[in-house]
Amino acid sequence: MIEAKGLTKFFGDYPAIEDVSFRAEPGEVVGFLGPNGAGKTTTMRILTGYTPPTSGTASIAGHDIQTQSLEARRAIGYLPETVPLYLDMTVRQYLSYMGALRGLSKQRIRSRIDDMFGLCRLEEYTDSLIGKLSKGYRQRVGIAQALLHEPPVLILDEPTIGIDPRQVVETRQIIRGLGGEHTVFLSSHILGEVSQVCDRVMIIHEGRIAAMDKAENLSESLGGTTRIILEVRGGTQNEITRILAGVPGVQSVEADESSGELSFIVECEPTQDLRAELARRIIERGWGLVDMHTAGLSLEEVFLRLTASQEEEDSASAEPEPA
Ligand SMILES: Nc1ncnc2c1ncn2[C@@H]1O[C@H](COP(=O)(O)OP(=O)(O)O)[C@@H](O)[C@H]1O
Ligand SMILES: [Mg+2]
Repeated sequence: MIEAKGLTKFFGDYPAIEDVSFRAEPGEVVGFLGPNGAGKTTTMRILTGYTPPTSGTASIAGHDIQTQSLEARRAIGYLPETVPLYLDMTVRQYLSYMGALRGLSKQRIRSRIDDMFGLCRLEEYTDSLIGKLSKGYRQRVGIAQALLHEPPVLILDEPTIGIDPRQVVETRQIIRGLGGEHTVFLSSHILGEVSQVCDRVMIIHEGRIAAMDKAENLSESLGGTTRIILEVRGGTQNEITRILAGVPGVQSVEADESSGELSFIVECEPTQDLRAELARRIIERGWGLVDMHTAGLSLEEVFLRLTASQEEEDSASAEPEPA
């Protein structure tokens, strides 16, 4: 289990994270989602004892990270942003070396390494030099070293960053499979990744926790509309906006001239596919439908929505009851 209370870290005057609190239960896979610079690595480095917080406390499997640092660190397997691998060692040599560093017996090292080869799907590379492995396989060696001493808590910092798409799928499956037996806390800047792999997602934005919920709730509440982008020639902006907004199921229409062409961003309820109806209304008017495609929400937009809806809630609750 991981428990963090009010973690704050200043670099000089700059707060990298502020008041970060959360719990990750045994067996749970929690995703830590945020853009570059949001404070994910800083939080993870505090939890793993690499850097102290400016204020706040945290515990790993019941051990305080500052007063029981050794016990806390023993309970953690950590995959840092850049794994310190030895390129001239074979996978087997590296894992036995890491096992010895962690004080495991020779016999235990041997049996754990065999388990790791299977779990991290490294069987074909047991005696390959790490320097010869692709980024994806190196990342798996990194996960294997994190798991070697059977820690109850795993902290994985952007485990799929920079690896090729075929290996991303398999690496995600490996991580997904670690939940249940471990508490897994993994960071990512990819919304789709955390919603696939994690039971719950915590969003960090500019050093502060912006939301924490089950993945399906977040994507529904944040990405809960389908967006269709249409490029139309013919009518005026006002006319086209009015016609599109009149289609049942359309929630909003926004004109966009930034590309030089007049296009419209139409937000629809996700349960309906309105493309055929939107096209029909355009053509019915004798306008030209030059392009139409759907687009998802980017992470930035998810944040914007999140902060916008929080502000709305805040101002709504501040308003007096109508008489
Ligand atoms: N050692 C450091 N010294 C000064 N600033 C730092 C240091 N480490 C991180 N930062 C700053 O703290 C912020 C959060 O960084 P980081 O935790 O690495 O974010 P993330 O992992 O989400 O990309 C960034 O603005 C970064 O520049
Ligand atoms: Mg980082």
